[in-house]
Amino acid sequence: MTSSPPSPAADTVAPKRRLFVTTALPYANGAFHIGHMMEYIQADIWVRLQRMLGNEVHFVCADDAHGAPIMIAADKAGKTPRQFVADIAAGRARYLDGFLIRFDNWHSTDAPENHQLAQDIYRALRKAGLICERSIEQFYDPVKGMFLPDRYIKGRCPKCDAPDQYGDSCEVCGAVYSPTELRQPYSVLSGATPQLRSSEHYFFQLSSARCADFLRAWTQAADARGRPHLQPEVLNKVREWFAVDANGHGGLADWDISRDAPYFGIEVPDAPGKYFYVWLDAPIGYLASLKNHFDKGQAAAHWHAPSRTGQSFEEFIADPEVEQVHFIGKDIVYFHTLFWPATLHFSGRKTPSQVHVHGHVTVGGEKMSKSRGTGISPLRYLELQLDPEWLRYYLAAKLSSRVDDLDFGADDFVARVNSDLVGKYVNIASRASRFITQYFDGRLGFHGATDSMLEAAVALSHDIAAALDARDTARALREIMAHADRINAAFDSAQPWVLARDESRRAELQDACSRALAGFWTLSVLLAPVLPATASRVARELFGLDRDFVWSDCQRLPERVAPYRHLLQRVDPAKLQQLLQPEPPARQPEPPSQPGAAATIGIDDFGKLDLRIARIAQAQAVEGSTKLLRLQLDLGERDEQGQPRLRNVFSGIASAYDPAELVGRLTVVVANLAPRKMKFGVSEGMVLSASGEGSLFLLSADAGARPGMRVS
Ligand code: 2FM
Ligand code: ZN
Repeated sequence: MTSSPPSPAADTVAPKRRLFVTTALPYANGAFHIGHMMEYIQADIWVRLQRMLGNEVHFVCADDAHGAPIMIAADKAGKTPRQFVADIAAGRARYLDGFLIRFDNWHSTDAPENHQLAQDIYRALRKAGLICERSIEQFYDPVKGMFLPDRYIKGRCPKCDAPDQYGDSCEVCGAVYSPTELRQPYSVLSGATPQLRSSEHYFFQLSSARCADFLRAWTQAADARGRPHLQPEVLNKVREWFAVDANGHGGLADWDISRDAPYFGIEVPDAPGKYFYVWLDAPIGYLASLKNHFDKGQAAAHWHAPSRTGQSFEEFIADPEVEQVHFIGKDIVYFHTLFWPATLHFSGRKTPSQVHVHGHVTVGGEKMSKSRGTGISPLRYLELQLDPEWLRYYLAAKLSSRVDDLDFGADDFVARVNSDLVGKYVNIASRASRFITQYFDGRLGFHGATDSMLEAAVALSHDIAAALDARDTARALREIMAHADRINAAFDSAQPWVLARDESRRAELQDACSRALAGFWTLSVLLAPVLPATASRVARELFGLDRDFVWSDCQRLPERVAPYRHLLQRVDPAKLQQLLQPEPPARQPEPPSQPGAAATIGIDDFGKLDLRIARIAQAQAVEGSTKLLRLQLDLGERDEQGQPRLRNVFSGIASAYDPAELVGRLTVVVANLAPRKMKFGVSEGMVLSASGEGSLFLLSADAGARPGMRVS
């Protein structure tokens, strides 16, 4: 269906790149938010480009399963950590498939491969003489029987005496301190006064000259292809971490890599009761997921690895030609630019080629917070049947190779999608294909030289590939849309609607429409990493290919076109508003029309209500409902076996709260409401919230209140 390329494609003769690509592993204690989706989409676009160029790519991720917060959340939910993590993992595909994100493998840091790799790497670091043991003092919760991470200790600020401040910093006066400085400290888990206890911890000696020298060199270096490991602004930040002041303060500190039991993690070899701190084994999970991917490929094919060269996982990962590329957010740079390369290097492994850092998503200029109504739920986006490719395009149009935050704006979203994708891009196909179908039976015909058109398309494809490879998707899309403008302008100036009225000008008509469609073909190839579903339909349905586009298709011309079928819709701004301004909850208490409008009741009436303090042990979205959240509430109750019993309560607060934000919160529940059978299950109570002016606010109790306490 296409003519042959005029000359061998540069990108088909160039040596192919071999890539191992990851995104940050999400903690397995909550649903994905828009920030996760942005990172996955950014990486997915990059990976799709590499695949279209014919490069070998292995793109993996995994759930980050370990650590105290997950162990505590699982405990509150009445599940084992493994079950808890498995339940979260089961919900991932909906998001990934929904936004057309194609990982080759999704694994877990709790998988056997990671236990093995983490222990091997630790043993290698120990052999390299970089592990030492030190006794440290830490707060211990005598009720829970565990050492407390800083965020689970609260107390009065040592500087301004504000109550209920976290163990590391005061939200009122901004002071930074250690948990041992807090006044009247208490455990967030049990309310007990924590005790200072000492314990042996293992440290990775990052402050050693060996490590510091290696990291100073590595962070400034480039990979084998001459691409710097780090973006310039990331390197500047990292340099600050190396800096030592005149008093000898600053520089890299040794890294505490162990935690005491009980801890959900990987056991430190030869150290009973000690586990690796979650951040030691988390990035090793990148390797574990890749190993699992290779092993699965080998098992499926029986005789060769998924690597094109037939290498095993260990051979592939050690191969200097293989590029290891990590996409991460700016909050975890320290771990990926210092701990991770040092861990790999001193355990005798190859270090990353590039660590690509992106900024965060803000909404209307503000950090996202669903409780303030500024969140964007990816699931809600899909439920509202907003097109996933709109979001992919919008994010790509705003992402550059820099670390800047990305602001999501509704007007901006509507304008870009409607004007670029519909007004400039698909418009070309719908207008030009009509004439080719009507007058030429779908056959394209070029009545004049096509060389310069093809040369321009090839040159553009090289520019776009370079911009996308550098993750400057904003620049790539600007150039692509400028090309769409040129195609539209040429089409308009040929005035095909005028030519069509004159039978003697059929050749001119066919030429003008064919050139527009050839341009549309090129645009579709270039947009394919961003709009994979639309590009696939263009290739197969419109141009009759029996495959998806590859990059070198920019060197070809289409020969036929099928009658146009609708490709992309305009965004309906009202629907987008629905996404940004949460719909009113299902069962919002009606506020009285005037203060005092409710009928007066006696104290006896009030006494009929059994109001209790409840701790939200678990909160989940409810499949099939945009309004309800399923809450598991701890009211301090026990079942017949004396085991903690949690109540299942459905609450119409999904529009105002991200479930992950709710876990651990204290609230007030009507405990003696008759159980209600709902479509999604039985609801055993009602949580109280204030509402009005379209907003909703869950009631909470001051710290110190305990689950089951009576509210009166
Ligand atoms: O910050 C986070 O969400 C971590 N779970 C990221 C881990 S990335 C990698 F190191 F595993
Ligand atoms: Zn303070």
